[in-house]
Amino acid sequence: MLSNSLIAVAALLANCVSGQVSGQTSPPKYPAPWIDSNFNWQDPSPVPTNGRTWADAYDKAVEFVSRLTLLEKVNLTTGVGWEGGRCVGNTGSIPRLGFPGFCNQDSPLGVRDTDGNSGFPAGMNVAATWSRSLMYARGAAMGAEHRGKGVDTQLGPVAGPLGRTPEGGRNWEGFSPDPVLTGVGMAQTIQGIQDSGVIACAKHYIMNEQEHYRNPGASNDADGVSNQQGYSVNLDDITLHELYLWPFADAVRAGAGSIMCSYNQINNSYGCQNSYTLNYILKEELNFQGFVMSDWWAQHSGVASALAGLDMTMAGDQGLASGDTFWGSNLTAAVINGTIPQWRLDDMVTRIMTAYYKVGRDVTSVPVNFDSWSLATTGPLYAQDPNNRITTINKHVNVQANHKQLIRQIGGASTVLLKNTKKALPLKKLKSIAVIGNDAHDNPAGPNACSDRGCSSVPNGYPIWTLAMGWGSGTANFPYLISPITALSQQAAADHTSLKNASNNYDFTAIAKAATGAEAAIVFVNADSGEGYITVDGNQGDRNNLTAWGNGDALVAWVAQHNPNTIVVMHTVGPIIVEDYKNNPNVTAILWAGLPGQESGNSITDVLYGKVNPQAKSVFTWGKNRADWGTDVIYESAADPLQIQLSEGVFIDYRHFDAAGIEPSYEFGFGLSYTTFAYSDLRVVKQKAPKYTPNKGKTPSAPTFGTLNTNPAANEFPKNIDPIPLYVYPYLEGPVPEGQPEDVPPGSQDSSPQPVAPAGGAPGGNPGLYDILYTVTAEIRNTGSVAGTEIPQLYVNLGAPTDPVRLLRGFDDIEILPGRTATVTFELTRRDLSNWDPKSQNWVVTSYPKTVYVGSSSRTLPLSQVLP
Ligand SMILES: *[C@@H]1O[C@H](CO)[C@@H](O)[C@H](O)[C@H]1NC(C)=O
Ligand SMILES: *[C@@H]1O[C@H](CO)[C@@H](O)[C@H](O)[C@H]1NC(C)=O
Ligand SMILES: *[C@@H]1O[C@H](CO)[C@@H](O)[C@H](O)[C@H]1NC(C)=O
Ligand SMILES: *[C@@H]1O[C@H](CO)[C@@H](O)[C@H](O)[C@H]1NC(C)=O
Ligand SMILES: *[C@@H]1O[C@H](CO)[C@@H](O)[C@H](O)[C@H]1NC(C)=O
Ligand SMILES: *[C@@H]1O[C@H](CO)[C@@H](O)[C@H](O)[C@H]1NC(C)=O
Ligand SMILES: *[C@@H]1O[C@H](CO)[C@@H](O)[C@H](O)[C@H]1NC(C)=O
Repeated sequence: MLSNSLIAVAALLANCVSGQVSGQTSPPKYPAPWIDSNFNWQDPSPVPTNGRTWADAYDKAVEFVSRLTLLEKVNLTTGVGWEGGRCVGNTGSIPRLGFPGFCNQDSPLGVRDTDGNSGFPAGMNVAATWSRSLMYARGAAMGAEHRGKGVDTQLGPVAGPLGRTPEGGRNWEGFSPDPVLTGVGMAQTIQGIQDSGVIACAKHYIMNEQEHYRNPGASNDADGVSNQQGYSVNLDDITLHELYLWPFADAVRAGAGSIMCSYNQINNSYGCQNSYTLNYILKEELNFQGFVMSDWWAQHSGVASALAGLDMTMAGDQGLASGDTFWGSNLTAAVINGTIPQWRLDDMVTRIMTAYYKVGRDVTSVPVNFDSWSLATTGPLYAQDPNNRITTINKHVNVQANHKQLIRQIGGASTVLLKNTKKALPLKKLKSIAVIGNDAHDNPAGPNACSDRGCSSVPNGYPIWTLAMGWGSGTANFPYLISPITALSQQAAADHTSLKNASNNYDFTAIAKAATGAEAAIVFVNADSGEGYITVDGNQGDRNNLTAWGNGDALVAWVAQHNPNTIVVMHTVGPIIVEDYKNNPNVTAILWAGLPGQESGNSITDVLYGKVNPQAKSVFTWGKNRADWGTDVIYESAADPLQIQLSEGVFIDYRHFDAAGIEPSYEFGFGLSYTTFAYSDLRVVKQKAPKYTPNKGKTPSAPTFGTLNTNPAANEFPKNIDPIPLYVYPYLEGPVPEGQPEDVPPGSQDSSPQPVAPAGGAPGGNPGLYDILYTVTAEIRNTGSVAGTEIPQLYVNLGAPTDPVRLLRGFDDIEILPGRTATVTFELTRRDLSNWDPKSQNWVVTSYPKTVYVGSSSRTLPLSQVLP
């Protein structure tokens, strides 16, 4: 391994010279691919219960789009402006056909800005279960709640940020810095959401890896520096394909109806007008058939973004309630004067409507019955309207069903047991326990007291209550929040256990008093982060440090000094430095509970008392020092825009620790159970797979649907409309600019048949990538005395000196009774064994010998074999 890692480090350095240069640019790629009318590929995504195949959905969309006028088509592409409707994003409507506009609503963990909804565990938590069925069930439950509120598009799940740096503020919204685990999380969540009849929106595409400087200073985002442009992430083609794009490929393959382009720049071109990442990578190579929606005000141009592949702009205005728009009137004018060809407009709308029919919105849709801007029952229909057209805006529909059971289950199944000595856990009926730390307690003002869960001014400068969600737009209101102290008090009462508590992290006298003499002292600590528009205790979204918040580390040491059976529970958004906890002999157990959602206290009590046997494995690496990760957020920049050079290439998280030979406190994939498992009998069977053939040929030419009346007079503002203030409309405002022929990128208006990408051919890429080349099986025996669920993991080494030491490629969750043996089966696809070759723009299986490893974590891999 050692020589291997040294070579990998050398390769890593060599990598630096090949494609991370300050100021490097994305190659232009035009025209924007039109939706595939052939659909002669096999639909890789399962057909949703209420939904249709892509081909059927396309036919319905074409029939619909063909009937629309220019203004109606533009209406579906453009948001009506900030707070112009009741959802966080609303497009124009088509009153003539009784078609309401699209309702696009946050968040990846529940319906945001309303009531009657559930507060689900974060994406990171469901990843920690490593359970496909729980990922799917969570997606389906969230989708059902969005459907019940009248939402068309749920803005999630998240694969960007992937988690390049542990400090990244929004990492918890996604799944894991490992692209395979994240890819499975994306696919399962998307299928769950869409099977419930709601369009999923995979976001933020792409390289949205830190909060600092993500946005231009002028766009009303509290990112600090004014007039600074959004940062540019500069990366090479291999890193893009083998790491950051991977989970988006899974999202597209799973049938995601929409993708949200990101705030940041990639190779110095903004995410929502980068023709290379949108037109080429997403729509051509990954064969994405749905629509690209902008992040809120991530659009910075009208014509350029349309030609680069953007299909829907949100919130529709140029800035927050600015009243002007890049599209709307401007898009109508650009189509009339011929700058945007009709086929491009038709393609935008056809993509939007295909996604709509694909998930069965025509069957599942109910009218919007909530209001993002108010929880009151009545209020202004248009929040920006001074005329206050007061009406019923909230019907307070309860959409929670029995989801609390699933939430409690995921909370327990996502709690990672990192340390368990002296048989500390599970707890038996004890005489006495102490529950210590502010993180065990309720916010006296209620769980939703902090707007978007971000409290910027609180006593002591940090949230002094239990953490069950990060902050920002990726949140939802809690219907209630079961704190640890509530659930543990109930358990203690049932067991006749005396319970003492100390809630102030700084009151060491009270803490010593509570901890001393208790049979077990359970100490809760936390660390929070979120989206950059809210700053909490000086943390502008991204975390400033990797330690516990609010005196947490001193608290743990102090409790351990007074109690030799100290059990640490962490509610954190990612890793914190736990080496001192790990080495403290009085800390007998350490659990990571992440961000478990509304049933937090019940979930942790289930695990502590053994009602649930932990199955979770860490979805990131726990380093001993901040520098161990080798990557960090850039907090200060003199350069405009900030240039983030991905000099580490694909070596993030465990790939970096392994390559650099750094021992972590706890490795990626690590987690204990109340039982033990033994691995044996690795078998590798080569499968007969067809030869890999590059995708060849040409697309049909771009279709148009219906004839547009481009006479300006037909597209003017109707005299009978009383315009709503700051509202974005599709009607012409003033004369259509007819100046010099527009300086549009070469090829961008070309509707003739286009060559296809060799790595393309079907959603998610060339279907041959998903051929199974090997099946790998192993036997796992439960060698302990209780039933438990094991997460067997398969890693590969791809053999080249430049490859990571090991890469996760498979996992499963298998429940095994004591003394019993179960067989785990992994299927290794061509993609799993390939490297990206920039030259041929395709995946290749290199001739280097490849090794598979099977075991219980990224560093406990008892079984291995070279692939035949
Ligand atoms: C970024 O630029 C590098 C260097 O020119 C190039 O290899 C890579 O493909 C580009 N990637 C994107 C997404 O533009
Ligand atoms: C466009 O959408 C707005 C907002 O829903 C609506 O008032 C208007 O009538 C629509 N225009 C057309 C031409 O359908
Ligand atoms: C059209 O775009 C231009 C340039 O950004 C802007 O000044 C103008 O206000 C836009 N028109 C409308 C109606 O928003
Ligand atoms: C915590 O302990 C204090 C006494 O120190 C008590 O008043 C309070 O009710 C306890 N809180 C809970 C939630 O048990
Ligand atoms: C780390 O940041 C948190 C939150 O701002 C703060 O409470 C804590 O004191 C910081 N840790 C250190 C060691 O400064
Ligand atoms: C462990 O607990 C014992 C007994 O409470 C105490 O004497 C000792 O100092 C503690 N050790 C640490 C490292 O806190
Ligand atoms: C067509 O109209 C658009 C939107 O107003 C404008 O940006 C573009 O410059 C115009 N093109 C020509 C050739 O005048």
